[in-house]
Amino acid sequence: MSFEEMWAELLPIGRDAAGGYHRFAWTPPELECRAWFLDEAARRDLEIERDANGNLYAWWLPADGSREDAVLTGSHLDSVPGGGAFDGPLGVVSAFAAIDLLRERGYVPARPIGVAAFAEEEGARFGVACLGSRLLAGAIAPERARGLRDGDGRSFAEVLVAHGMDPDRIGPDEGLLARIGCYVELHVEQGRALQQPVGVASSIVPHGRWRLDFTGEGNHAGTTLIRDRRDPMLPFAITVLAARQAADRNAALATIGKVAVTPNGVNAIPSRVTAWLDSRGPIDDAVRRTVEEIGRAARAAAGAHGVAVELAEESYTEVVSFDTGLRERLLKVLPDAPVLPTGAGHDAGILAARVPTAMLFVRNPTGVSHAPAEHAEPDDCLAGVEALAAVLDDLARG
Ligand code: GLV
Ligand code: MN
Ligand code: MN
Ligand code: MN
Repeated sequence: MSFEEMWAELLPIGRDAAGGYHRFAWTPPELECRAWFLDEAARRDLEIERDANGNLYAWWLPADGSREDAVLTGSHLDSVPGGGAFDGPLGVVSAFAAIDLLRERGYVPARPIGVAAFAEEEGARFGVACLGSRLLAGAIAPERARGLRDGDGRSFAEVLVAHGMDPDRIGPDEGLLARIGCYVELHVEQGRALQQPVGVASSIVPHGRWRLDFTGEGNHAGTTLIRDRRDPMLPFAITVLAARQAADRNAALATIGKVAVTPNGVNAIPSRVTAWLDSRGPIDDAVRRTVEEIGRAARAAAGAHGVAVELAEESYTEVVSFDTGLRERLLKVLPDAPVLPTGAGHDAGILAARVPTAMLFVRNPTGVSHAPAEHAEPDDCLAGVEALAAVLDDLARG
């Protein structure tokens, strides 16, 4: 299966009429992507491993059968709602294609080479991004993960059971981590920064997610006088504007891209509005200050409208600087590759706390991501495969 054939197989899975992808962890389209992964692994005679956290691995073992000091690559197969085709799958497809290229060239690795597909990277179903790699690396408490709920109220623990997994076994896997010598994730670039086909990542900016619950009083839209209302939609709206202003003041970013209105009726004053805030920026303090200022604005607006508000942190990841030694090694193999930071989160950012980690980016000519216009030209994808193959070749020599 060539890169193009693998890509063509994945392309229709979970795609809507507007070209956006809906591959949420353990829903039918994502399960289809997992089945595809297992087929590709089997087709290549790679050893399949499923960890207790829902992550999948396909291993090309060296001639001596050793499983230690592995060079792991890969990415994720899940998507945001209405996401692009490349975010995640490009890293997985490129990993299989790079293995094919190395084999065609007669390469024999001295270290295991693995392809990973990490579970729930986007956090689109259970709210916490990189859930599979966080659990593996011990970056989230298993008790907390078990209790996370999806939009239909199903807990992560229930979903694991429904798919034959044991929620009591989730959590850090020191044995597996000890076998990973390094992790190199290839990913589509998600902004406009990369002007060459392939780049190397320096760091991931601090980023996090917060939840805002505005609770007022549900009532009739036609019979409730304005002065009698406790409408949570108003402080919510004021908070959206305040978020933009706070981000501007602090040279950070703030996005409210998801909101749930209860009961969500056209002729009902809502009883509750829940909004999710994503804030990021190059400086940790600036992100913290942005969120504090948004919280203050939300409380003031809620007070003025007789509404209660709660602000809770759902996840926070401090700046991630990728391993400099590994990056230097990548740059020896790819001397022309520019080095760039990113504002997007990745499993690589989580694994970086436990194993030497690096990332390769493939140019995105639209500069759009988490939306159908996300793109990478076929020639750039192939340049990415070549670059990844060269990196694996170098690293797995021993
Ligand atoms: C994940 O892709 C993120 O950066 O939110
Ligand atoms: Mn993403
Ligand atoms: Mn991604
Ligand atoms: Mn991501």
